[in-house]
Amino acid sequence: MGIIASDLGIDLGTSNTLVYVKRKGIVVSEPTIVVADSTNERTVRAVGDDARIMLGRTTEGVMAVRPLREGVITDFDTTVEMLRYFRKKAIGVSYLAKPRVFLSYPCSLSAIERRAVGEAARHSGARKVLMVEKPFAAALGSGLPVFDPNGCMVVDIGGGTTDVAVISLGGIVISHSVRVGGTKMDEAIIEFIKREFNILIGDRTAEEVKLDLAAALPLRSERRARIRGRDMVTNLPQTTEINSTQIYEAIHEPCLAILGAIKWVLERTPPELAADIMHNGIYLTGGGSLLYGMDQLIASELGIPVLLAKEPMDCSALGLGNIIENYDLLQQLGRTSFVTQA
Ligand SMILES: Nc1ncnc2c1ncn2[C@@H]1O[C@H](COP(=O)(O)OP(=O)(O)O)[C@@H](O)[C@H]1O
Ligand SMILES: [Mg+2]
Repeated sequence: MGIIASDLGIDLGTSNTLVYVKRKGIVVSEPTIVVADSTNERTVRAVGDDARIMLGRTTEGVMAVRPLREGVITDFDTTVEMLRYFRKKAIGVSYLAKPRVFLSYPCSLSAIERRAVGEAARHSGARKVLMVEKPFAAALGSGLPVFDPNGCMVVDIGGGTTDVAVISLGGIVISHSVRVGGTKMDEAIIEFIKREFNILIGDRTAEEVKLDLAAALPLRSERRARIRGRDMVTNLPQTTEINSTQIYEAIHEPCLAILGAIKWVLERTPPELAADIMHNGIYLTGGGSLLYGMDQLIASELGIPVLLAKEPMDCSALGLGNIIENYDLLQQLGRTSFVTQA
């Protein structure tokens, strides 16, 4: 228990929330899921990893919720409770000191939606909340030379959003965010299986199918898997076999939407910076960048080299960490509009 609390970096993602603690690094990395009483959302039963196991398996009176959708808070109180839980897990309980929190948010949020994210962090026990655009944090965290005049492009493919940004001289020159990411792919798989087989599968199964079979390009050797769900005609449990070609087709549309967002930014990038990107390549971060063939799809469609970040799901949190650990960097960023007070 100290008078001054350590600074925290919180990457509040639609799928996963990460907490970075000064001088310790990433100490929490768990799914953005809460299980609470359905009558009183403040009575939290489980959060994160513990809550994920219960997803789709809760009993009466208890519900599992993902409090964010497409980067936007859909359940404010639950988000606050979740952040409070993660903060306690990260730094313990202190009645004296409240930490200063650096929070990353997708560029697609409106001013009101962004304010709600900042408010949730403050309600969960932050002294001050500083907001950093997600692709900027991701670029910092993947070690890109963001302060060089040389332009670089980072594409963060998360659960609910994809953020594309061109960065040069310590700032975002142009950015674009679409509400498409890994979750849209899961939803596309659910729809496909409903349509083709009349079988309803849950979110968790859909994500497992994606991790197992999905690819952004057709696979040379086809893979198969058996899935379980509920028959929509008989309402009884049912299994069926699906293959990677079907899943490739099912998720093709969200993949094209991500490609479209990158094209949108490239078309509006000043020529000198576009030339830099042609030369340096596009950096992919976020969990969605792990989709097999995503890098090849982008590279072949745009004719630009594509590089995958080392720990794609950690980049934004590590970027917030860079800011927290490096006072000079914070001073430098404080003069730009990329760190704003919530
Ligand atoms: N190997 C993989 N292949 C395809 N998608 C993946 C893979 N690993 C993780 N994902 C997806 O990445 C998304 C989560 O990425 P993340 O960066 O944590 O999102 P967010 O920051 O929005 O919470 C999920 O939709 C998840 O299914
Ligand atoms: Mg993320």
